[in-house]
Amino acid sequence: MEDFQTASTVEALYNRSIDVVLKLRARGDVTEEGSEEVSRRSPRFSITRTAELVGRTGAAIRDAEKDGRLPNVARTQSGRRIGYTLAEVNAMRAVFGTQPWRAPSDPLSIIAVQNFKGGVGKSTVSVHLAQYLATQGYRVCLIDCDSQGSSTMMMGYVPDLDISEEDTLYPFIRNTEMTSLSYAVRETHWDGLWLIPANLRLYSAEYELAAQIARSDHMLLNRLSQGIASIAEHFDVIILDPPPALGTISLSVMRAANALLIPVPPTVVDFTSTTSFLAMLYESIGVLEERDLPINLRWIRFLATRADEQKSMQRELLQIMRNLFGENMLRAVLRDSAEIDNASARMMSVYELEQPVTSRETYQRCLTYLNAVNAEIETQFRLTWPSHAERLRAEGVL
Ligand SMILES: Nc1ncnc2c1ncn2[C@@H]1O[C@H](COP(=O)(O)OP(=O)(O)OP(=O)(O)O)[C@@H](O)[C@H]1O
Ligand SMILES: [Mg+2]
Repeated sequence: MEDFQTASTVEALYNRSIDVVLKLRARGDVTEEGSEEVSRRSPRFSITRTAELVGRTGAAIRDAEKDGRLPNVARTQSGRRIGYTLAEVNAMRAVFGTQPWRAPSDPLSIIAVQNFKGGVGKSTVSVHLAQYLATQGYRVCLIDCDSQGSSTMMMGYVPDLDISEEDTLYPFIRNTEMTSLSYAVRETHWDGLWLIPANLRLYSAEYELAAQIARSDHMLLNRLSQGIASIAEHFDVIILDPPPALGTISLSVMRAANALLIPVPPTVVDFTSTTSFLAMLYESIGVLEERDLPINLRWIRFLATRADEQKSMQRELLQIMRNLFGENMLRAVLRDSAEIDNASARMMSVYELEQPVTSRETYQRCLTYLNAVNAEIETQFRLTWPSHAERLRAEGVL
Protein backbone atom coordinates (compact mmCIF):
# COMPACT_ATOMS: atom_id res chain seq x y z
CA MET A 1 0.00 0.00 0.00
CA GLU A 2 1.22 3.48 -0.74
CA ASP A 3 2.40 5.40 2.28
CA PHE A 4 1.05 8.99 2.35
CA GLN A 5 2.89 11.45 4.54
CA THR A 6 1.50 14.70 3.28
CA ALA A 7 1.02 16.49 6.60
CA SER A 8 4.37 15.53 8.08
CA THR A 9 6.18 16.39 4.85
CA VAL A 10 4.56 19.81 4.68
CA GLU A 11 5.32 20.39 8.34
CA ALA A 12 8.98 19.50 7.83
CA LEU A 13 9.14 21.81 4.83
CA TYR A 14 7.58 24.60 6.90
CA ASN A 15 10.12 24.11 9.69
CA ARG A 16 13.00 24.21 7.29
CA SER A 17 11.65 27.32 5.58
CA ILE A 18 11.09 29.20 8.81
CA ASP A 19 14.73 28.53 9.76
CA VAL A 20 15.80 30.21 6.55
CA VAL A 21 13.46 33.15 7.23
CA LEU A 22 14.97 33.63 10.69
CA LYS A 23 18.50 33.54 9.29
CA LEU A 24 17.58 36.09 6.64
CA ARG A 25 16.09 38.37 9.24
CA ALA A 26 19.21 38.09 11.37
CA ARG A 27 21.14 39.77 8.55
CA GLY A 28 19.14 42.91 9.19
CA ASP A 29 19.41 42.74 12.99
CA VAL A 30 22.02 44.27 15.24
CA THR A 31 23.08 43.80 18.82
CA GLU A 32 23.23 47.16 20.56
CA GLU A 33 26.57 47.92 22.16
CA GLY A 34 26.75 46.62 25.72
CA SER A 35 23.46 44.76 25.46
CA GLU A 36 22.40 41.26 24.60
CA GLU A 37 19.28 42.50 22.97
CA VAL A 38 18.93 41.98 19.27
CA SER A 39 17.08 44.74 17.52
CA ARG A 40 16.69 46.68 14.34
CA ARG A 41 19.14 49.46 13.76
CA SER A 42 17.61 52.92 13.83
CA PRO A 43 18.97 55.27 11.20
CA ARG A 44 21.71 57.75 12.12
CA PHE A 45 22.45 61.00 10.36
CA SER A 46 25.54 63.17 10.00
CA ILE A 47 25.42 66.75 11.26
CA THR A 48 25.06 68.03 7.68
CA ARG A 49 22.13 65.72 6.92
CA THR A 50 20.65 66.45 10.35
CA ALA A 51 20.78 70.18 9.69
CA GLU A 52 18.98 69.61 6.38
CA LEU A 53 16.32 67.43 8.00
CA VAL A 54 15.77 69.81 10.90
CA GLY A 55 15.69 72.89 8.69
CA ARG A 56 18.37 74.75 10.69
CA THR A 57 22.12 75.21 10.14
CA GLY A 58 24.75 72.97 11.70
CA ALA A 59 25.95 76.04 13.62
CA ALA A 60 22.48 76.63 15.08
CA ILE A 61 22.39 72.99 16.25
CA ARG A 62 25.84 73.25 17.86
CA ASP A 63 24.85 76.50 19.59
CA ALA A 64 21.74 74.85 20.99
CA GLU A 65 23.90 71.97 22.24
CA LYS A 66 26.29 74.40 23.90
CA ASP A 67 23.64 76.46 25.64
CA GLY A 68 21.77 73.37 26.84
CA ARG A 69 18.62 73.66 24.74
CA LEU A 70 19.68 70.36 23.20
CA PRO A 71 21.47 67.47 24.92
CA ASN A 72 25.06 66.79 23.92
CA VAL A 73 25.34 64.21 21.21
CA ALA A 74 27.00 60.86 21.89
CA ARG A 75 30.65 60.65 20.80
CA THR A 76 33.13 57.88 20.17
CA GLN A 77 36.14 57.51 22.49
CA SER A 78 38.18 59.61 20.06
CA GLY A 79 35.61 62.41 20.43
CA ARG A 80 33.92 61.99 17.04
CA ARG A 81 30.18 62.44 16.88
CA ILE A 82 28.57 59.10 16.09
CA GLY A 83 25.72 60.80 14.31
CA TYR A 84 22.20 61.67 15.36
CA THR A 85 19.38 59.18 15.66
CA LEU A 86 16.00 60.00 14.17
CA ALA A 87 14.65 60.42 17.71
CA GLU A 88 17.33 63.08 18.30
CA VAL A 89 16.50 64.74 14.99
CA ASN A 90 12.84 64.84 16.03
CA ALA A 91 13.76 66.26 19.44
CA MET A 92 15.62 69.06 17.59
CA ARG A 93 12.60 69.71 15.41
CA ALA A 94 10.55 70.10 18.57
CA VAL A 95 13.07 72.59 20.04
CA PHE A 96 13.30 74.63 16.83
CA GLY A 97 9.59 74.31 16.03
CA THR A 98 10.26 72.84 12.59
CA GLN A 99 7.99 69.78 12.70
CA PRO A 100 6.10 69.52 9.41
CA TRP A 101 2.92 68.29 11.13
CA ARG A 102 -0.51 69.06 9.76
CA ALA A 103 -2.61 71.66 11.53
CA PRO A 104 -5.46 70.05 13.50
CA SER A 105 -7.87 71.48 10.93
CA ASP A 106 -5.97 69.88 7.99
CA PRO A 107 -7.39 66.49 6.99
CA LEU A 108 -5.46 63.38 7.98
CA SER A 109 -3.94 61.89 4.80
CA ILE A 110 -5.01 58.28 4.37
CA ILE A 111 -3.19 56.83 1.38
CA ALA A 112 -4.13 53.43 -0.06
CA VAL A 113 -1.31 51.92 -2.12
CA GLN A 114 -3.58 49.74 -4.18
CA ASN A 115 -3.71 47.62 -7.30
CA PHE A 116 -5.43 44.25 -7.35
CA LYS A 117 -2.54 42.90 -9.41
CA GLY A 118 -0.01 41.04 -7.27
CA GLY A 119 3.69 41.79 -7.09
CA VAL A 120 3.53 45.31 -8.53
CA GLY A 121 5.45 46.80 -5.61
CA LYS A 122 2.63 47.85 -3.26
CA SER A 123 4.39 46.74 -0.08
CA THR A 124 7.79 47.99 -1.25
CA VAL A 125 6.32 51.41 -2.01
CA SER A 126 4.33 51.47 1.27
CA VAL A 127 7.32 50.76 3.52
CA HIS A 128 9.71 53.12 1.75
CA LEU A 129 7.11 55.88 1.69
CA ALA A 130 6.36 55.37 5.39
CA GLN A 131 10.04 55.49 6.40
CA TYR A 132 10.74 58.46 4.14
CA LEU A 133 7.86 60.49 5.58
CA ALA A 134 8.76 59.62 9.16
CA THR A 135 12.32 60.79 8.43
CA GLN A 136 10.91 64.08 7.17
CA GLY A 137 9.28 64.43 10.59
CA TYR A 138 5.67 63.44 9.89
CA ARG A 139 3.81 61.19 12.32
CA VAL A 140 3.10 58.15 10.22
CA CYS A 141 1.16 54.94 10.78
CA LEU A 142 1.69 52.09 8.35
CA ILE A 143 -1.21 49.64 8.42
CA ASP A 144 -0.50 46.24 6.97
CA CYS A 145 -3.88 45.04 5.73
CA ASP A 146 -2.51 42.02 3.88
CA SER A 147 -2.43 38.62 5.58
CA GLN A 148 0.80 37.88 3.68
CA GLY A 149 2.40 40.45 6.00
CA SER A 150 5.02 41.72 3.53
CA SER A 151 5.23 45.21 5.06
CA THR A 152 5.29 43.68 8.53
CA MET A 153 8.22 41.58 7.39
CA MET A 154 10.09 44.51 5.87
CA MET A 155 9.71 46.21 9.25
CA GLY A 156 11.64 43.31 10.76
CA TYR A 157 8.95 40.93 12.04
CA VAL A 158 8.30 37.35 11.03
CA PRO A 159 4.50 37.59 10.84
CA ASP A 160 3.71 34.03 11.90
CA LEU A 161 6.16 33.94 14.80
CA ASP A 162 6.34 37.47 16.17
CA ILE A 163 2.77 38.61 15.60
CA SER A 164 -0.42 37.18 17.04
CA GLU A 165 -3.91 37.84 15.77
CA GLU A 166 -4.57 40.22 18.68
CA ASP A 167 -1.81 42.47 17.36
CA THR A 168 -3.52 42.97 14.01
CA LEU A 169 -6.64 44.65 12.62
CA TYR A 170 -8.53 41.40 13.07
CA PRO A 171 -10.09 41.92 16.55
CA PHE A 172 -11.25 45.43 15.71
CA ILE A 173 -12.80 44.48 12.38
CA ARG A 174 -14.83 41.60 13.76
CA ASN A 175 -15.79 43.03 17.12
CA THR A 176 -18.05 46.00 16.54
CA GLU A 177 -18.07 46.79 20.24
CA MET A 178 -14.45 47.87 20.18
CA THR A 179 -14.17 51.63 19.87
CA SER A 180 -10.44 52.20 19.46
CA LEU A 181 -7.79 50.72 17.21
CA SER A 182 -5.00 52.01 19.46
CA TYR A 183 -4.34 48.52 20.93
CA ALA A 184 -2.80 47.46 17.60
CA VAL A 185 -0.60 50.51 16.99
CA ARG A 186 3.00 49.72 17.91
CA GLU A 187 6.12 51.84 17.98
CA THR A 188 8.87 50.78 15.64
CA HIS A 189 12.64 51.17 15.52
CA TRP A 190 11.94 54.11 13.18
CA ASP A 191 11.05 57.13 15.31
CA GLY A 192 7.82 58.74 14.11
CA LEU A 193 6.69 55.58 12.36
CA TRP A 194 4.10 53.33 13.98
CA LEU A 195 2.92 50.02 12.60
CA ILE A 196 -0.21 47.92 12.72
CA PRO A 197 1.20 44.55 11.69
CA ALA A 198 -0.52 41.68 9.89
CA ASN A 199 -0.25 37.94 9.91
CA LEU A 200 -2.02 35.04 8.29
CA ARG A 201 -4.96 35.18 10.69
CA LEU A 202 -6.11 38.39 9.05
CA TYR A 203 -7.21 36.18 6.20
CA SER A 204 -10.05 34.95 8.39
CA ALA A 205 -11.39 38.48 8.55
CA GLU A 206 -11.75 38.39 4.78
CA TYR A 207 -14.08 35.38 4.99
CA GLU A 208 -15.95 36.43 8.09
CA LEU A 209 -16.63 39.87 6.73
CA ALA A 210 -17.80 38.44 3.42
CA ALA A 211 -20.23 36.12 5.21
CA GLN A 212 -21.60 38.89 7.40
CA ILE A 213 -21.88 41.32 4.52
CA ALA A 214 -23.78 38.68 2.54
CA ARG A 215 -26.28 38.77 5.42
CA SER A 216 -26.59 42.46 4.53
CA ASP A 217 -24.40 43.85 7.27
CA HIS A 218 -22.48 45.97 4.79
CA MET A 219 -21.70 48.65 7.38
CA LEU A 220 -18.85 46.34 8.43
CA LEU A 221 -16.99 47.74 5.42
CA ASN A 222 -16.79 50.88 7.50
CA ARG A 223 -14.87 49.29 10.38
CA LEU A 224 -11.39 50.14 9.11
CA SER A 225 -12.50 53.69 8.49
CA GLN A 226 -13.87 53.91 12.03
CA GLY A 227 -10.68 52.40 13.41
CA ILE A 228 -8.57 55.00 11.64
CA ALA A 229 -10.82 57.78 12.92
CA SER A 230 -10.20 56.51 16.46
CA ILE A 231 -6.42 57.06 16.16
CA ALA A 232 -6.47 59.99 13.71
CA GLU A 233 -5.42 62.73 16.13
CA HIS A 234 -1.98 61.16 16.64
CA PHE A 235 -0.98 61.09 12.98
CA ASP A 236 -0.37 63.15 9.87
CA VAL A 237 -0.35 60.29 7.39
CA ILE A 238 -1.77 56.77 7.36
CA ILE A 239 -0.47 54.36 4.73
CA LEU A 240 -2.58 51.33 3.87
CA ASP A 241 -0.96 48.29 2.25
CA PRO A 242 -3.83 46.05 1.10
CA PRO A 243 -3.90 42.50 -0.27
CA PRO A 244 -3.79 41.98 -4.05
CA ALA A 245 -7.44 41.06 -4.47
CA LEU A 246 -10.86 42.60 -4.59
CA GLY A 247 -12.14 41.28 -1.28
CA THR A 248 -13.82 42.77 1.75
CA ILE A 249 -10.52 44.03 3.20
CA SER A 250 -9.64 45.80 -0.03
CA LEU A 251 -13.08 47.38 -0.15
CA SER A 252 -12.67 48.48 3.47
CA VAL A 253 -9.32 50.01 2.50
CA MET A 254 -10.87 51.93 -0.38
CA ARG A 255 -13.67 53.13 1.85
CA ALA A 256 -11.18 54.30 4.50
CA ALA A 257 -8.72 55.99 2.13
CA ASN A 258 -8.81 59.59 0.97
CA ALA A 259 -6.01 59.20 -1.56
CA LEU A 260 -5.06 56.43 -3.95
CA LEU A 261 -1.60 55.56 -5.18
CA ILE A 262 -1.58 52.89 -7.89
CA PRO A 263 1.76 51.20 -8.55
CA VAL A 264 2.04 49.84 -12.10
CA PRO A 265 5.09 48.26 -13.68
CA PRO A 266 5.25 49.41 -17.32
CA THR A 267 4.70 45.99 -18.86
CA VAL A 268 1.77 44.92 -21.02
CA VAL A 269 0.60 42.32 -18.51
CA ASP A 270 0.64 44.73 -15.57
CA PHE A 271 -0.88 47.54 -17.56
CA THR A 272 -3.73 45.28 -18.70
CA SER A 273 -4.38 44.08 -15.14
CA THR A 274 -4.38 47.66 -13.95
CA THR A 275 -7.05 48.45 -16.52
CA SER A 276 -9.18 45.64 -15.04
CA PHE A 277 -8.43 47.01 -11.58
CA LEU A 278 -9.83 50.38 -12.64
CA ALA A 279 -12.98 48.69 -14.00
CA MET A 280 -13.50 46.76 -10.76
CA LEU A 281 -12.79 49.83 -8.68
CA TYR A 282 -15.31 51.83 -10.67
CA GLU A 283 -17.96 49.15 -10.08
CA SER A 284 -17.13 48.88 -6.40
CA ILE A 285 -17.40 52.64 -5.96
CA GLY A 286 -20.91 52.43 -7.42
CA VAL A 287 -21.91 49.55 -5.13
CA LEU A 288 -20.54 51.27 -2.03
CA GLU A 289 -22.22 54.54 -2.93
CA GLU A 290 -25.57 52.78 -3.22
CA ARG A 291 -25.04 51.57 0.34
CA ASP A 292 -24.22 55.01 1.65
CA LEU A 293 -20.54 54.23 1.94
CA PRO A 294 -19.02 56.66 -0.57
CA ILE A 295 -15.36 56.59 -1.53
CA ASN A 296 -13.96 60.11 -1.43
CA LEU A 297 -10.49 60.46 -2.89
CA ARG A 298 -8.67 63.76 -2.81
CA TRP A 299 -6.10 62.55 -5.32
CA ILE A 300 -5.34 59.52 -7.49
CA ARG A 301 -1.84 58.98 -8.86
CA PHE A 302 -0.29 56.20 -10.90
CA LEU A 303 3.31 55.37 -10.10
CA ALA A 304 5.46 53.43 -12.57
CA THR A 305 7.30 50.78 -10.54
CA ARG A 306 9.95 48.18 -11.28
CA ALA A 307 10.65 50.06 -14.50
CA ASP A 308 13.54 49.06 -16.72
CA GLU A 309 14.12 51.86 -19.18
CA GLN A 310 16.76 49.80 -20.98
CA LYS A 311 13.85 47.89 -22.48
CA SER A 312 12.31 49.70 -25.44
CA MET A 313 8.87 48.19 -24.84
CA GLN A 314 8.85 49.54 -21.29
CA ARG A 315 9.97 52.99 -22.45
CA GLU A 316 7.16 52.97 -24.98
CA LEU A 317 4.57 51.91 -22.41
CA LEU A 318 5.80 54.54 -19.97
CA GLN A 319 5.22 57.17 -22.64
CA ILE A 320 1.76 55.79 -23.37
CA MET A 321 0.93 55.87 -19.65
CA ARG A 322 2.14 59.46 -19.36
CA ASN A 323 -0.01 60.53 -22.31
CA LEU A 324 -2.98 58.61 -21.02
CA PHE A 325 -2.93 59.51 -17.36
CA GLY A 326 -1.49 63.03 -17.70
CA GLU A 327 -1.30 64.76 -14.34
CA ASN A 328 -2.66 61.63 -12.65
CA MET A 329 0.72 60.02 -13.15
CA LEU A 330 3.71 60.86 -10.96
CA ARG A 331 6.66 62.26 -12.89
CA ALA A 332 9.16 60.26 -10.85
CA VAL A 333 9.53 56.57 -11.66
CA LEU A 334 10.60 53.80 -9.30
CA ARG A 335 13.06 51.83 -11.39
CA ASP A 336 13.87 48.20 -10.98
CA SER A 337 16.86 48.04 -8.66
CA ALA A 338 18.98 45.23 -7.30
CA GLU A 339 19.27 47.22 -4.04
CA ILE A 340 15.51 46.91 -3.43
CA ASP A 341 15.69 43.15 -3.87
CA ASN A 342 18.77 42.97 -1.69
CA ALA A 343 17.21 45.02 1.07
CA SER A 344 13.99 43.01 1.07
CA ALA A 345 16.03 39.81 1.24
CA ARG A 346 17.26 41.14 4.62
CA MET A 347 13.70 42.06 5.60
CA MET A 348 14.49 45.73 5.50
CA SER A 349 14.20 48.77 3.31
CA VAL A 350 16.88 50.42 1.20
CA TYR A 351 16.80 53.30 3.72
CA GLU A 352 18.02 50.87 6.37
CA LEU A 353 20.97 49.48 4.45
CA GLU A 354 24.08 50.84 6.11
CA GLN A 355 26.08 50.31 2.99
CA PRO A 356 25.44 49.31 -0.62
CA VAL A 357 24.93 45.60 -1.25
CA THR A 358 25.88 45.95 -4.90
CA SER A 359 27.83 49.11 -5.76
CA ARG A 360 27.78 52.64 -4.40
CA GLU A 361 26.39 53.93 -7.73
CA THR A 362 23.50 51.44 -7.79
CA TYR A 363 22.68 52.24 -4.18
CA GLN A 364 22.84 56.02 -4.67
CA ARG A 365 20.77 55.81 -7.84
CA CYS A 366 18.16 53.75 -6.05
CA LEU A 367 17.99 56.29 -3.19
CA THR A 368 17.59 59.05 -5.78
CA TYR A 369 14.54 57.34 -7.39
CA LEU A 370 13.01 56.52 -4.04
CA ASN A 371 13.43 60.04 -2.71
CA ALA A 372 12.06 61.60 -5.90
CA VAL A 373 8.95 59.39 -5.82
CA ASN A 374 8.36 59.93 -2.11
CA ALA A 375 8.90 63.70 -2.30
CA GLU A 376 6.31 63.95 -5.07
CA ILE A 377 3.80 62.04 -2.97
CA GLU A 378 4.61 64.31 -0.03
CA THR A 379 3.71 67.34 -2.17
CA GLN A 380 0.43 65.68 -3.18
CA PHE A 381 -0.84 65.36 0.35
CA ARG A 382 0.55 68.68 1.53
CA LEU A 383 -1.58 70.31 -1.15
CA THR A 384 -4.63 68.90 0.62
CA TRP A 385 -3.60 70.59 3.87
CA PRO A 386 -4.65 74.25 3.76
CA SER A 387 -1.94 75.24 6.26
CA HIS A 388 0.73 73.69 4.00
CA ALA A 389 -0.67 74.60 0.58
CA GLU A 390 0.05 78.23 1.39
CA ARG A 391 3.67 77.40 2.27
CA LEU A 392 4.09 75.34 -0.92
CA ARG A 393 2.91 78.32 -2.91
CA ALA A 394 5.42 80.51 -1.10
CA GLU A 395 8.17 77.96 -1.79
CA GLY A 396 7.29 78.19 -5.49
CA VAL A 397 6.26 74.53 -5.75
CA LEU A 398 2.93 75.51 -7.31
N1 LIG B 1 11.68 48.73 -7.86
C1 LIG B 1 11.97 47.45 -7.59
N2 LIG B 1 13.16 46.93 -7.95
C2 LIG B 1 13.46 45.64 -7.68
N3 LIG B 1 12.64 44.79 -7.05
C3 LIG B 1 11.46 45.25 -6.67
C4 LIG B 1 11.03 46.59 -6.90
N4 LIG B 1 9.79 46.75 -6.42
C5 LIG B 1 9.44 45.57 -5.89
N5 LIG B 1 10.43 44.66 -6.03
C6 LIG B 1 10.41 43.25 -5.60
O1 LIG B 1 9.29 42.63 -6.17
C7 LIG B 1 8.67 41.73 -5.25
C8 LIG B 1 7.20 42.12 -5.06
O2 LIG B 1 7.16 43.41 -4.48
P1 LIG B 1 6.08 43.78 -3.39
O3 LIG B 1 5.96 42.71 -2.37
O4 LIG B 1 6.36 45.15 -2.94
O5 LIG B 1 4.77 43.78 -4.32
P2 LIG B 1 3.25 43.76 -3.85
O6 LIG B 1 2.49 44.45 -4.92
O7 LIG B 1 3.12 44.25 -2.48
O8 LIG B 1 2.95 42.19 -3.87
P3 LIG B 1 1.60 41.49 -3.33
O9 LIG B 1 0.62 41.71 -4.41
O10 LIG B 1 2.00 40.05 -3.17
O11 LIG B 1 1.22 42.16 -2.06
C9 LIG B 1 9.49 41.82 -3.97
O12 LIG B 1 10.40 40.76 -3.96
C10 LIG B 1 10.24 43.14 -4.10
O13 LIG B 1 11.48 43.11 -3.44
MG1 LIG C 1 2.18 43.37 -0.79
